[in-house]
Amino acid sequence: MENTRVILKRRPVGEATSDCFAVESEILGALPPGKLRVGVEYISVDAGTRTMLRGEGFHMQVGIGEPILAGGVGRILESNVEGWEPGQAVRGGLCAQTIATVSPEQLEKIEETHLPLSAWLGVLGGSTGVTAWIGVRRVAKPGPGEVFVVSAAAGAVGSIAGQIAKRDGASVIGIAGGQRKTDYLTNELGFDAAIDYKSEDMGARLKELAPEGVNVFFDNVGGAVLDAVLDNIAMRSRVVICGAVSQYDDMDNVSGPSMYLRLAERQSIMEGFAYFHFPESIPEATRELKDWAMEGSIAMPEEILDGIDRYPDALQFMFQGGNLGKLLVKAH
Ligand SMILES: NC(=O)c1ccc[n+]([C@@H]2O[C@H](COP(=O)([O-])OP(=O)(O)OC[C@H]3O[C@@H](n4cnc5c(N)ncnc54)[C@H](OP(=O)(O)O)[C@@H]3O)[C@@H](O)[C@H]2O)c1
Repeated sequence: MENTRVILKRRPVGEATSDCFAVESEILGALPPGKLRVGVEYISVDAGTRTMLRGEGFHMQVGIGEPILAGGVGRILESNVEGWEPGQAVRGGLCAQTIATVSPEQLEKIEETHLPLSAWLGVLGGSTGVTAWIGVRRVAKPGPGEVFVVSAAAGAVGSIAGQIAKRDGASVIGIAGGQRKTDYLTNELGFDAAIDYKSEDMGARLKELAPEGVNVFFDNVGGAVLDAVLDNIAMRSRVVICGAVSQYDDMDNVSGPSMYLRLAERQSIMEGFAYFHFPESIPEATRELKDWAMEGSIAMPEEILDGIDRYPDALQFMFQGGNLGKLLVKAH
């Protein structure tokens, strides 16, 4: 059996270009006792992975020569563990590779439904749908009539966060790059409005769309986008920091919000969160997202790059704004 895996060849400086990675093959020996072999079908591509390539930081780090850490879904090919049969669909930290040799503690069995396996990384994924659910329901808590703005709105987390805020009665404005994405947000996801930060004046558009100010901002981007929204917050607003994708390429020189004094002026709060700090909410989030997905009442956009050899391009593709919805690499 041969595994093809993507390793980190050198730490990126700036953009994570494909030459930072190498694709290599290895022949797998006999399966050790207590282990399973999983044929990986989809690999999750996450903006946060860029922060794992630095060698230091908040998240787990990828060592030079080691496979890229990534969530994945697939099926058991071979098992030396009772109760884990070949054919079983599973999810876990499978890394960017085609065949993962893992222990059962690293895996979760996936219930077979009509949902595609990829949904378990997208709308039902911890770093995607569940993050959006926890950020909206446990942290941002938008209510009926409030203006909810989300950045990277057509991305994996943002597209789900905006849909949940809409369900909760908020008026939702998405900020995203390019007309393909802004059209998608208003025409397909039912957002009330969308701003193309690449071609429009964000401040002017926010003043026009939310003359009374923004009540809740769910920020995935940071930098200039965060400043533009801070400048337009309402009294007693909540600014929720989910991430700051505009800053990940140069974390030694993060550009902080220059408009943060609006928080004091408008009696507002800014709060960050990570979904894994809410373990008690993960089952409820997953259950509700699954119900919506099964009944077809939540859109689950995804963009798939076909083949493990596409993984080295995937982060660059994402950081250039190529993906609409959840970005995945199809390993098999
Ligand atoms: N707090 C948590 O627990 C948690 C968990 C998972 C993810 N996150 C955060 O959630 C955010 C979204 O992650 P994701 O994996 O779902 O990625 P994603 O939104 O699917 O993809 C990232 C998007 O960010 C936009 N972008 C990239 N560079 C940008 C820049 N310089 N300025 C403005 N926009 C830029 C691009 O869309 P455009 O075309 O619109 O530019 C791109 O499609 C990230 O900040 C991530 O760190 C947080």
